[in-house]
Amino acid sequence: MQETIKIGFQTDKSINIVVGHGITSQIGDYVDLKRYSTIILLADSEAAKLYGDYIIRTLEKSGRQVLPVIIPSGEGSKSLSQLEKCYQLLAEHNIDRDGLLCALGGGVTGDLGGFLAGSYLRGIDYIQLPTTLLAQVDSSIGGKTGINFGGRKNIIGIFNQPEIIIADTAFLESLPPREMSSASAEIIKYGAAMDAELFEKLARRDKGEFSRDELPAIIARAATLKAQTVAIDETDRLDKRAILNFGHTVGHAIEAANSLRKIRHGEAVSIGMAAAARISGLLNTLVTDDIIRLENLLRLFNLPVSCPDLTPATLLEAMKADKKISGRQLKWVLLDGIGQGTTGNIVPGEIVRTVLEEICQ
Ligand SMILES: NC(=O)c1ccc[n+]([C@@H]2O[C@H](COP(=O)([O-])OP(=O)(O)OC[C@H]3O[C@@H](n4cnc5c(N)ncnc54)[C@H](O)[C@@H]3O)[C@@H](O)[C@H]2O)c1
Ligand SMILES: [Zn+2]
Repeated sequence: MQETIKIGFQTDKSINIVVGHGITSQIGDYVDLKRYSTIILLADSEAAKLYGDYIIRTLEKSGRQVLPVIIPSGEGSKSLSQLEKCYQLLAEHNIDRDGLLCALGGGVTGDLGGFLAGSYLRGIDYIQLPTTLLAQVDSSIGGKTGINFGGRKNIIGIFNQPEIIIADTAFLESLPPREMSSASAEIIKYGAAMDAELFEKLARRDKGEFSRDELPAIIARAATLKAQTVAIDETDRLDKRAILNFGHTVGHAIEAANSLRKIRHGEAVSIGMAAAARISGLLNTLVTDDIIRLENLLRLFNLPVSCPDLTPATLLEAMKADKKISGRQLKWVLLDGIGQGTTGNIVPGEIVRTVLEEICQ
C-alpha cells in the first residue's frame, strides 16, 4: 500500500507526503534528482549505519554525486556547533544553490537539516526522509526546523517546508520497541483529540504494536491529521495548531521536572493526556468511561498514565516556568468527547492540583 497526502497551504504552495513500505527505492519517481547539481545526504549516525549505503546507491542512480554528512545520533546534534560543522562541509565541497539536501533520520536530523538547508546560501531545496515513527507522524510535517540554544529547546529556527516527505515504513523495522511505543502516544493523541474513528481503530486492537501491513495506513491517517492542521496555520501565528498540544501541557512539565531525562517525550505526553482527560472529567465535559478507555489504550501501548516519582509541586513549578517563558496564560487542550478536542481552555488551579495529585500517586 502506498498513499500520497497533499498539504495545500493558504499560500499557493503545496507539498506531498508519500507513505509506503520500501518506497525509498523509487525516490527518483518522486523527486526529479537530475534537476540538482549535487545531493547532500545528511544522516544521523544510526540511520547512516543501517541505511546509508543503500540510500547513497539509490540516489546515485540519478547520475548525481552524493556528499554524505553524518551527524552524531541524539539531541546534542541540534546545536550551533553541529550546524557550524555542517556549513563547513558544504562550503568546503562548494555546494551551490542547486544542491539538494536529503535529511535521513529522526526528528533531530529533520530539524537540523531543514534549518541547514534553509540558511545555507539563503536556502537550498531539501527533502525529508524520516526514519523514526515520531518523525513520520509528527516532526517531519509542518515545516518547523531549528536547533536548541542556551539549554532551551527549539529556540533558534525557521519555518521551511521540504519539497516532499517520503515516509518509508521499512525504516521502522530497526527501531527499538520503546521508540515505537513512545511515538504511538502521538498517534493516540491524534485519535483522542481529533479523530474518533482512528481512536476506535486503535482501541479495537488486542496488541499495542503495529504489524508491517497496517503501519502505512495508520501513519498516513496520522500524517493527514497533522497536515490538515498545519496547512491552515503555516507559521503557527493563528493559534490553529493548538489542538496538536493535547497532553503536552503536563507532558512538557514532566519532561522539565524529569531532570535525568529518563522519560521519552511520548511517555510524558501519555501521562499528560491522562491528566487532560481527567481534568475534562472534573469539568463534566468527558464521561468517566471515556477517560478509562483512553487510559486503557495508552496502557495497551505500554505507555505510562501516572508518574509516582514526581510531585504535584514540581510539576506546578515547571508549568509556571513554562508560562513565564511563553509570556502567556496556560491554555489547556481538553476533550468534549473522544475525537473532540477543544482548545484555549482556562482551568481553575484547584482542579489542576487535584488531577496532578492523582497522577503523581
Ligand atoms: N519540527 C517539529 O515539528 C517537531 C515535532 C516534534 C518533535 N520534534 C523534534 O524531534 C526530535 C525527536 O525526534 P525523534 O524521536 O525521531 O528523535 P531522534 O532523531 O533522536 O531519533 C531517535 C533515536 O532513533 C535512532 N534512529 C533513527 N532512525 C532509526 C532507525 N530507523 N532504526 C533505529 N534507530 C533509529 C536515532 O539515532 C536516535 O537515537 C526532538 O528534537 C524534537 O524537538 C520536532
Ligand atoms: Zn509531541
